[in-house]
Amino acid sequence: MPPFIVTTPETTPKSIIVVEKTDFDSWLASQPDTYKNWIEAHDFEPEDGKFLLLPGTDEGIDAVVYVKDSDWDVWSLADLPAQLPVGLYALDAELDAREATDLATGWSLGTYNFDRYKKNKKNYATLVLPDAADENKIDRTVKAMTLVRDLINTPAGDLGPTALEAAASQVAGEFEAEQTNIIGDDLLTYHFPMVHAVGRAAADAPRLIDITWGDKDAPKVTLVGKGVCFDSGGLDIKSAAGMLMMKKDMGGAATVLGLAYMIMAANLPVRLRVLIPAVENAISGNAFHPGDVLISRNGKTVEIGNTDAEGRLILADALSAADEESPDLLIDMATLTGAARVAVGTEIAATFTDDDALFEAIEESARREKDPVWRMPLWDEYRHLIDSKIADINNSGSGGGYAGAITAGLFLKEFVENAASWVHFDIMAYNVRSRPGRPIGGEAFAMRALFSLIEKRYSS
Ligand code: BES
Ligand code: ZN
Ligand code: ZN
Repeated sequence: MPPFIVTTPETTPKSIIVVEKTDFDSWLASQPDTYKNWIEAHDFEPEDGKFLLLPGTDEGIDAVVYVKDSDWDVWSLADLPAQLPVGLYALDAELDAREATDLATGWSLGTYNFDRYKKNKKNYATLVLPDAADENKIDRTVKAMTLVRDLINTPAGDLGPTALEAAASQVAGEFEAEQTNIIGDDLLTYHFPMVHAVGRAAADAPRLIDITWGDKDAPKVTLVGKGVCFDSGGLDIKSAAGMLMMKKDMGGAATVLGLAYMIMAANLPVRLRVLIPAVENAISGNAFHPGDVLISRNGKTVEIGNTDAEGRLILADALSAADEESPDLLIDMATLTGAARVAVGTEIAATFTDDDALFEAIEESARREKDPVWRMPLWDEYRHLIDSKIADINNSGSGGGYAGAITAGLFLKEFVENAASWVHFDIMAYNVRSRPGRPIGGEAFAMRALFSLIEKRYSS
């Protein structure tokens, strides 16, 4: 059972009475004077999502009134478990399966709190699972979101490439997926030269985590996630302010692991593969240098304009490996550029693909799941911005910062040739402000949208 949800209540729950805003006055007119006076005394104005505790006949609260003026979504009730007094609550509302599932999912997500390093753990209000809800779906969504958030929130000191590999093994092990890890100098033997170059200066060895699961004849869905456990910037070192949040630079890896968890838990009819290049972009005597030329897995040569554009290097080798088996759908997720944050801000996943139909399907799922994406152009006429005089391509644009997220996407595109469809997500992986169900800290951008897309696309 997901956190703070129960199926068989041991005490009588308090009702959350859901009242449509337009019906509020007539509802109030039919209530006892204690409620009328209470609501008036609290100057309660009925507005969407507002709620009020109603007085009990003896001690404690009797019920909660919740005003609704828009469609239910996953976040509608997500503030309640933290705002209501700890206790047991049940919804008094007509809900279909989707609504019941969404509301209970949001409730449980509203109890997320990264408390690994805290002595005092918080407590929350508990919801009785609404009848129509799909318990398994709620459970896998909440587990995946929690996994992703915990991984991103865990500082680099406790989550290097070895620990990220262990987290991946835990997920793979739960579903008896196959896993291989190519570690340290073996990356050279097995032709992941850019993963090696980026990660070799760190004390914790770089690695390529490769997980496969499902019927080998089913459509191939491959997920690639940027697993930079800490991004110091390398020799083109970041500023203190720029470095402060860089424990989250494995957010793409965390998110594809969460998505993989959902796909396997739901037993979707796909052959899933997850590729995570896991490294720390560190500084040491053997660090790669600005000006170096690397030979990538697919043979293209890459001039290093900036060692801080490391994500696209490790992703390039992983995307090449993914592309070699011509997947039906290839998805990569990465905290790739500051420029994507300038373009769409911190709360939308910047989405790049040449496949119009795929994007439309993603957007539809994103809207339904309240997990927003926005399309960005893979504008081929900007390809010259990453030309190199001495190699096939440069890893940092010469556009003086213009179109930085687009040139990063164009760089990745050079390493995808055979996949039937490819989509790249440049994500924040972090909430910089708190919203209901989404506290400040690590966040799984576009994961629920992608699960819904994959479920639809391959439903048998
Ligand atoms: N991990 C960063 C991108 C990033 C920064 C994501 C801040 C989210 C918030 C990435 O490795 C990086 O440093 N990119 C550089 C690329 C540049 C050197 C071409 C950037 O965006 O400035
Ligand atoms: Zn960087
Ligand atoms: Zn980075």
